[in-house]
Amino acid sequence: MAKVGLFFGSTTGHTEEAAALIRQALNQLEEGLVQTYNVVQDPIQCMDEFSCLILGTSTWDDGELQEDWRSLWFELDKVNLTGKKIAIYGLGNQADYPLNFQDAIASLAKKIRQRGAELVGRWPVTGYEFTQSAAVEDDHFYGLALDNDNQSNLTPDRVRTWAHQVALEFGVYNHNN
Ligand SMILES: Cc1cc2nc3c(=O)[nH]c(=O)nc-3n(C[C@H](O)[C@H](O)[C@H](O)COP(=O)(O)O)c2cc1C
Repeated sequence: MAKVGLFFGSTTGHTEEAAALIRQALNQLEEGLVQTYNVVQDPIQCMDEFSCLILGTSTWDDGELQEDWRSLWFELDKVNLTGKKIAIYGLGNQADYPLNFQDAIASLAKKIRQRGAELVGRWPVTGYEFTQSAAVEDDHFYGLALDNDNQSNLTPDRVRTWAHQVALEFGVYNHNN
């Protein structure tokens, strides 16, 4: 059985494409490590099966969560997240939304911390140009920030590096493997 559940919400497909890349990168470390779920159709109660989760969201409407996450926001409170290790990734656009770049990552990070989960997978802000983001603390995003509108060429490398980091932080992979 997969050790990591990846749950994403995606409006125009970018967060979904990134989910496939992340799954591919992690499954290269260990076959079958990750199973992906699209929250618009798959029940989020499936999160109960995993002690390690990856959550993916894009940011919309000047800092809002992606619409499918918004719809199930209160349902999330029924899932037991206590003690789980959770990594977040986001899709955003730093050129058009420099004041709200990747804010939705912050909404998810706040929620999962309130629910007793441990946040892993922080990502440095170097290499991006934006003015403000709710998702930044100590020069790091709360999770992987991807911008396929302006920096799609950087996405594959960012995903590979982050996937490796997250696998180590989850403890599902070590350097000796
Ligand atoms: C109307 C609109 C509002 C957006 N608002 C934001 C925003 O506030 N912050 C941000 O970083 N990106 C914003 N974006 C960019 C999207 O997050 C980006 O295009 C993303 O790749 C969409 O991913 P998805 O197709 O998986 O939903 C916005 C895009 C549109 C079209």
